[in-house]
Amino acid sequence: MSLLIKNGIIVTSSDTFKGDIYIEDGIVKEIGENLNYNKNKTEIIDASGKYVIPVGVDVHTHFNLHVGNLVVNDDFYTGTIAAACGGTTTIIDHIGFGPQGCELRYQINKYHSYADNNAVIDYGFHGVIQHVDNDILNEIEEIVEEDGINSFKAYLTYDYKIEDEDIIKIFKKLKEVNGITAIHCENHGVIQYLRKYYEENGLKSPIFHSLSRPEETEGEAVNRMINIAKIANYKDLYIVHLSTKIALDYIKMARENGQELYVETCPQYLILDESKYKLPNKEGLKYIMSPPLREKYNGIALWKGIRDGYIQTIGTDHCPFSFNNDKKLGKDNFIKCPNGAPGVEERIPLIFSEGVMNGKININKFVEVCSTNPAKIFGIYPKKGTIAIGSDADIVIIDPNKEVILSSKDLHSNVDYSAYEGIKVKGYPIMTILRGKIIVRDNKFIGEKGDGMYLKRKTTRGR
Ligand code: URP
Ligand code: ZN
Ligand code: ZN
Repeated sequence: MSLLIKNGIIVTSSDTFKGDIYIEDGIVKEIGENLNYNKNKTEIIDASGKYVIPVGVDVHTHFNLHVGNLVVNDDFYTGTIAAACGGTTTIIDHIGFGPQGCELRYQINKYHSYADNNAVIDYGFHGVIQHVDNDILNEIEEIVEEDGINSFKAYLTYDYKIEDEDIIKIFKKLKEVNGITAIHCENHGVIQYLRKYYEENGLKSPIFHSLSRPEETEGEAVNRMINIAKIANYKDLYIVHLSTKIALDYIKMARENGQELYVETCPQYLILDESKYKLPNKEGLKYIMSPPLREKYNGIALWKGIRDGYIQTIGTDHCPFSFNNDKKLGKDNFIKCPNGAPGVEERIPLIFSEGVMNGKININKFVEVCSTNPAKIFGIYPKKGTIAIGSDADIVIIDPNKEVILSSKDLHSNVDYSAYEGIKVKGYPIMTILRGKIIVRDNKFIGEKGDGMYLKRKTTRGR
């Protein structure tokens, strides 16, 4: 069956125009007006008054994540259904830590066993580097080549934090193979000191999660990575989940000095703020994530950073631990609360509403940061991330007049809360199309388990 989407307002990262899109065999075949099509085998979708955009590419999710004895509530089936219902048809998931000393491939194989035949949208993986030696460095090269994984994450905190001496080795290796290093930037030593201090002094409510990770812990770590990347002459540093103005200031300084790098932020840092940690009934635990929510002025600076082009992508860091079973482990001590919050389904509606409808960014910038740039940076453009002849027909139709009050009861993630409960959004996805097949209609998932395809990613990318 072919599809003809008629009369919509088609938006890409560079253009906005009224027209029709003809889709055959999962690919965009024609764009224009009065297109020819076979009337017997074409479904016509009337998109008058609606936006027709290349669907979301979320390059920061955590499905099936195991942390200690806990596992997040979304696997690749439920998590990708939630993504699809929110207007996302491609995710790149961050592989979680494996057993100490394991090779990179150990976790990659495990993640294929989680995702293959389960995901309902297209997917890829970022490798995770939890220690560095010659074997790991050689393996990176093999994996980029054989598995189409061109990006690897290193953490500067948590159990498998990577020291600067090893960070420079990673940068040099990934420079050789044209790969991206995604880094979780927080200063581990200071955070450890403050967590211990607060715990020993009986200061254990959720706000102390935030106070134990001050803005400067991100600022310092971001600046350190920028400087190490400069020393290594490495241009593909990708800073994940940026949350602070101070770190953004270091990024601006680097850019003004001619250094290239990529930066991601997330809806929670743009829309929520630190006051959530003071909610009654332990609800602050829902927002325990790292880096933490910040004071409001940071969000204002991040929106400006998006407008000015210092921030290239918005991912979600979707990491859905259950509130009742997992997050409440921290009810008497924030340190016992697992880190992370859901958001894969809410990203597109929130950024469309807060960003486009409230005038913080224009609609082309919205497409650029939610779809085109992530696809370009991670090597899947122009197959993904745009509407162009020959691209995958991954399209979402947004009704700008549909108002929705976000609530976990209407969302599709398998978790028992939404970090955005009660927020009213204006504009909502009403149809999601994956490679020419309608998989969501009016908030109802109608696709198939296992229809998602693994994306082998290229090492060429546009800046
Ligand atoms: O708190 C968070 N962000 N949990 C997920 C893991 C990470 O750091 O991205
Ligand atoms: Zn992280
Ligand atoms: Zn994450």
